[in-house]
Amino acid sequence: MKKLFFGIALIAAIGVNAATPVYLDDSKPLEDRVEDALSRMTLREKINLIHAQSKFSAPGVPRLGIPETWCTDGPMGVRPEVLWDEWEQAKWTNDSCTAFPSLTALAATWDPDMALLYGKSIGEEARYRNKSVLLGPGINIYRTPLNGRNFEYMGEDPYLTSQMVVPYVKGVQSNGVAACVKHFALNNNEINRHTSNPIVDDRTLYEIYLPGFRAAAQEGEAWSFMGGYNLFRGEHASYNPILMNEILKGEWGWDGAVISDWGAVHDTRTAVSGGLDMEFGSWTNGLSNGASNAYDSYFLAEPYLKGIEDGTYSTRELDDKVRRVLRLTMRTAMDRKRPFGSMGSDEHVEACRRIGEEGVVLLQNRGNLLPLNLDKTKKIAVIGENAIKMMTVGGGSSSLKARYEVTPLDGLKKRVGDKAEIVYARGYVGDPTGEYNGVVTGQDLNDPRSPEELRDEALRVARDADVVLFFGGLNKSNHQDCEDTDRESLDLPYGQNELIEALAKVNPNLAVINISGTGVAMPWTAKVPAIMQAWYLGNETGNALASVLAGDANPSGKLPYTYYATLDQCGAHKLGEYPGHPGIDELGNEVMDMPYNEGIFVGYRFIDKNKLKPTFPFGHGISYTTFEYGKAGIDKAEGSADDVFTVTIPVTNSGSREGKEVVQLYISDKKSSVERPVKELKGFRKVSLKPGETAEVKFEIGRDALSYFDADKHAWVCEPGEFEALIGASSADIRSKVKFKVK
Ligand code: BGC
Repeated sequence: MKKLFFGIALIAAIGVNAATPVYLDDSKPLEDRVEDALSRMTLREKINLIHAQSKFSAPGVPRLGIPETWCTDGPMGVRPEVLWDEWEQAKWTNDSCTAFPSLTALAATWDPDMALLYGKSIGEEARYRNKSVLLGPGINIYRTPLNGRNFEYMGEDPYLTSQMVVPYVKGVQSNGVAACVKHFALNNNEINRHTSNPIVDDRTLYEIYLPGFRAAAQEGEAWSFMGGYNLFRGEHASYNPILMNEILKGEWGWDGAVISDWGAVHDTRTAVSGGLDMEFGSWTNGLSNGASNAYDSYFLAEPYLKGIEDGTYSTRELDDKVRRVLRLTMRTAMDRKRPFGSMGSDEHVEACRRIGEEGVVLLQNRGNLLPLNLDKTKKIAVIGENAIKMMTVGGGSSSLKARYEVTPLDGLKKRVGDKAEIVYARGYVGDPTGEYNGVVTGQDLNDPRSPEELRDEALRVARDADVVLFFGGLNKSNHQDCEDTDRESLDLPYGQNELIEALAKVNPNLAVINISGTGVAMPWTAKVPAIMQAWYLGNETGNALASVLAGDANPSGKLPYTYYATLDQCGAHKLGEYPGHPGIDELGNEVMDMPYNEGIFVGYRFIDKNKLKPTFPFGHGISYTTFEYGKAGIDKAEGSADDVFTVTIPVTNSGSREGKEVVQLYISDKKSSVERPVKELKGFRKVSLKPGETAEVKFEIGRDALSYFDADKHAWVCEPGEFEALIGASSADIRSKVKFKVK
């Protein structure tokens, strides 16, 4: 009997081992599983794996039980389901998401914990919807305030972007959903986005435009990257041999999968050799011109297969692509231990509101007009279209079908209750539409009144109010923070400047709340006591704003980019030839050459170099309380480049409210053999302090913080000599400095 049991057990054990192929056995090392799967695949299966079968999916290998790859936008919420072959929404009734704040808002929190919370939450929603890849985050550098997609990115500074992108990626991927970091690289404008040809030197590339991507690849270990539409040194970014092969997969040793942007592939030969692993969205213009069942004709489909069969291509590149896609699949859809995810949970609503509150930037607050004093205020005039306009729909591929959206006016009404009367007047009509690919806000914002009638009503309402809150800005319609178009000027649209000036004349107690994902000119700062930068804050927009306006939340956001007074203050416009000029590239293509003549002098680096005074500097943001900085100290005055220098500074809440301060560390190289920025952000800490409380804020400075990229040596170089650590509340408000020497 014993023998029989033993025999059955043995057969069963052998049976399991023999029947469970290595690629399905998740106790085996990933690379063994990948090799095993690869060895079982036919040529056609490999080809099928690397290109789309629908707008957002690729087929996997059904015969082997290797699941489909489903992607979704990204990066601020999970996009509603679209039809198989078309961009039009599929009209599901269970795909409404939590719309999270724009990525500029996230960057403005200057809080990596918020980025982790964001990534974890959006990843849970993507997982719940059974997606393997979330098409985000976007981290292209804010080179010009006119870029239509700045709201999907994290601002102008490579260090801030790097610090924020890593936790976002980790948070998403903790759900077994891949982040797809986009758009690699130099996709810094929407105008001419398919022909834009940035001409950038290596130093600029490595110091400004690549660090965020490197951090996402190496520290964040992002499982996928998306290439951009633009060109770079003769090839499109999505299959650019320098960007993808040499840098991303070569220098950075990255083992993930490169996904093309939708419709970014134009050629089989270069798509094969240029490091692209998955082709999506071909035969569309990226937004509207869909063609059904074109998938077999994709550049990486039949044309590639035929090319292999007739000997044009070897299978070496194909196997590399397949390995990368298999890795992606095993890390996501084939991870049996990944959590189930959740959608629209209370936790996500809470995350949305918290990130929104922490991202709002109080730019100026003369006479402490804010927070609203609800004990004394009897009448609040709310003016402006953005007080009532829902903004989660619009802006291009990041447009969402939100479960709900609280407008600023509704949020304020709910918060103020019967403590004060709120009177609303629109003041102007900007964009009354509210539709994207069949998703509608359901709002009817048409208004037949003339501009004069609207303005007169606004002035009448404002005149006898205790306080006037103007909600304006941009709105995600074409040229106003929207994919595929850049803005046409730095100015606010729809006559808002004139209206703000007129409001300031009838009532000095005016606060302007600017809702946008990028900077706008504010020629009226001297006439308006309080200015707040609010962003697109998703579902909880109105609640988050009301909470900051009423003082329940103390503003603690800081600008992730410079607020230019004029375009001339921005290097890309002053020197950089934006939006470029017609040219012919290395391959004879007609392109729009865009020389980045400003080089590394982007954002505050350009402002510092030219001693300019922007409207508001990078890193700026005030609070309802005040912070005092003590004297910075350093652990050693001299050390080697491999030493770590520790700088500490006491920061005290000197006001009467609890609040958070973002303490910023900039490094200045006092003498260098190459031109260096006056200073560069190399550290920051967000500290929460009760009134009277002091924190000893500590920064560690290592070689990375001191080096520049030497293009000739193709290496980061830390030159000996004198450096200075500058600690402050913004790039223009340095409170303490300390010198040190590198031997
Ligand atoms: C955008 C990408 C987006 C993709 C899929 C493209 O137009 O550039 O960011 O992920 O569409 O919607």
